[in-house]
Amino acid sequence: MPPRRRLPPLLLLLLAALCPAAIALRHGPSAIAVVGGGIGGSAAAYFLRQKFGPGVRLHVLEKAALGGRLHTLDVEGAAYEAGGAVIHPLNLHMKHFVKELGLSVASSQGSLAGVYNGEEFVFEESSWSFINLLKLLWYYGLNPLRMSMWVEDILDKFMRIYRYQMHEYAFSSNERLLHALGGDDFIQLLNQTIDEAMQRAGFSQKFINEVVCPAMRVNYGQGVTVNGFVGAVSLAGVQSGLWSVKGGNKLVCSGLISSSKAQVIPGTVVSIEPKTRPSPSGDPVKLYQVTYNTSSGLTEDTYDIVLIAAPLGRKMADITFRNFDPPILPFPNPYHQTVTTLVHGRVNASFFGYNDPQAFHFGAIFTTDNPKLFINSLGVVSPVGDTDTGEELPLQSAVWKVFSKEELTKEQLNLLFSSYDSVQVKPWLAYPEYSAPEKFPPIVLHEQLYYLNGLERAASAMEMSAVAARNAALLAFHRWHGRSASIDQEDLHEKLKTEL
Ligand SMILES: Cc1cc2nc3c(=O)[nH]c(=O)nc-3n(C[C@H](O)[C@H](O)[C@H](O)COP(=O)(O)OP(=O)(O)OC[C@H]3O[C@@H](n4cnc5c(N)ncnc54)[C@H](O)[C@@H]3O)c2cc1C
Ligand SMILES: *[C@@H]1O[C@H](CO)[C@@H](O)[C@H](O)[C@H]1NC(C)=O
Ligand SMILES: *[C@@H]1O[C@H](CO)[C@@H](O)[C@H](O)[C@H]1NC(C)=O
Ligand SMILES: *[C@@H]1O[C@H](CO)[C@@H](O)[C@H](O)[C@H]1NC(C)=O
Repeated sequence: MPPRRRLPPLLLLLLAALCPAAIALRHGPSAIAVVGGGIGGSAAAYFLRQKFGPGVRLHVLEKAALGGRLHTLDVEGAAYEAGGAVIHPLNLHMKHFVKELGLSVASSQGSLAGVYNGEEFVFEESSWSFINLLKLLWYYGLNPLRMSMWVEDILDKFMRIYRYQMHEYAFSSNERLLHALGGDDFIQLLNQTIDEAMQRAGFSQKFINEVVCPAMRVNYGQGVTVNGFVGAVSLAGVQSGLWSVKGGNKLVCSGLISSSKAQVIPGTVVSIEPKTRPSPSGDPVKLYQVTYNTSSGLTEDTYDIVLIAAPLGRKMADITFRNFDPPILPFPNPYHQTVTTLVHGRVNASFFGYNDPQAFHFGAIFTTDNPKLFINSLGVVSPVGDTDTGEELPLQSAVWKVFSKEELTKEQLNLLFSSYDSVQVKPWLAYPEYSAPEKFPPIVLHEQLYYLNGLERAASAMEMSAVAARNAALLAFHRWHGRSASIDQEDLHEKLKTEL
């Protein structure tokens, strides 16, 4: 017990009897740093404040703009999502944030979809849902129905995280977290490609190529070689009920940070080093010295706890870990480039094999894996501030969002669009380059140094960053106070079932 405020011995005994954790009570940390002000970092600041209370000094170090991969681009005076855009109706952390911050929801508008294979459309949606059902049955038999059941089962297991986190359980590794949700089934999904996983589950190759692959391409810019878990997340991402935040998803980040009363420090973190400092009580205090580059040069500050909420890697958060014993070694962490291009213009229907532009009615074009294709997807988008009218978007002259691996050349733009008047381009190191078996970086890099973005290797999404943020905040809290019973509990699902 740190001898700051002495409790009468009897009271102390009573307390200890009532609540075993009271024995382990220790002073809270005095300063915590979060590196990165994207959704992961801002959610971490929010959850850290919740756990550690108002007394701790909380800094969010951000090298660019708050929001990170949540970012809008302006096209003719209106803002459009250029990074993370849609949120699943069962993403409960995101839902909670929006409600808590008093933000509003915009539902994503429907438009007719087609799947293009580079030669022709292999699937064309009709405005009659009955016709679509017949078409799906005709082309793919029961595959679509079985797929929604397959995805539902994975989603159900994933949803267990909310109950675990509500009961404040944390996991010290990404593997343990995922295993606690879906057991060996989840680990197996991460060990194989979505192609293998779905073939084994009995889905047809035609269905995988024409329906599953286009979903991977629009959501993650990659084909069916991605791991089965991100594949399933991607398939959940084409379900109905998707939404986004009115005014822009990044409003959640600035909202969470101001609600957490964290101070935002503009600067690029370049290195982190462990230090020990003598304290008044005699015991040495362990700290992290964080060095960051600002407009006025290199600065440093010390913190008891540091959370890194940005992907580590030479081309991303390039942070040097100095004098750690054992050393923190760089791990392979390849990221996939996806370029977002927003174009205000008219699509060239004949590029897609339509001689009559009037007959071309698609508002969303997905693609199969064909090396000839220079785009992954193409879709009409509406501005982030738009009120939902429930009407279909006009296609004649609209703002289209194109995803591609490389920046589009002028020639390519001239092929895709018969005319256009403005173009905005944003290249991203967007999400991990997925493979199978997927390997995870650690969450605990050192005693009180945590890394959130390893969970992205299971699947990258706003909600995944929020889940990782809540986990890291709980983990930091439990480790600080020696509450090991709340970390890495096995069979949580069964335990919490009987607790109800
Ligand atoms: C084109 C695209 C489309 C997407 N679509 C969706 C979607 O529809 N739905 C969905 O849920 N997800 C989507 N995603 C994924 C989603 O955007 C990300 O998973 C999520 O935003 C990641 O948040 P993060 O906070 O973990 O990381 P980031 O947003 O990358 O935040 C990291 C922050 O750290 C900062 N930083 C980096 N290095 C340093 C340093 N050394 N010092 C200080 N600061 C540093 C960066 O500037 C950045 O602001 C999409 C992503 C892209 C790119
Ligand atoms: C997944 O693969 C790893 C090796 O890459 C192996 O150790 C592990 O047993 C596999 N797990 C399952 C459930 O298949
Ligand atoms: C700090 O930033 C300045 C200006 O951007 C740059 O010239 C310098 O190399 C940076 N220093 C480090 C250590 O990254
Ligand atoms: C449209 O696409 C066709 C077919 O690819 C191409 O020949 C034509 O040049 C494109 N551009 C316009 C403006 O029609």
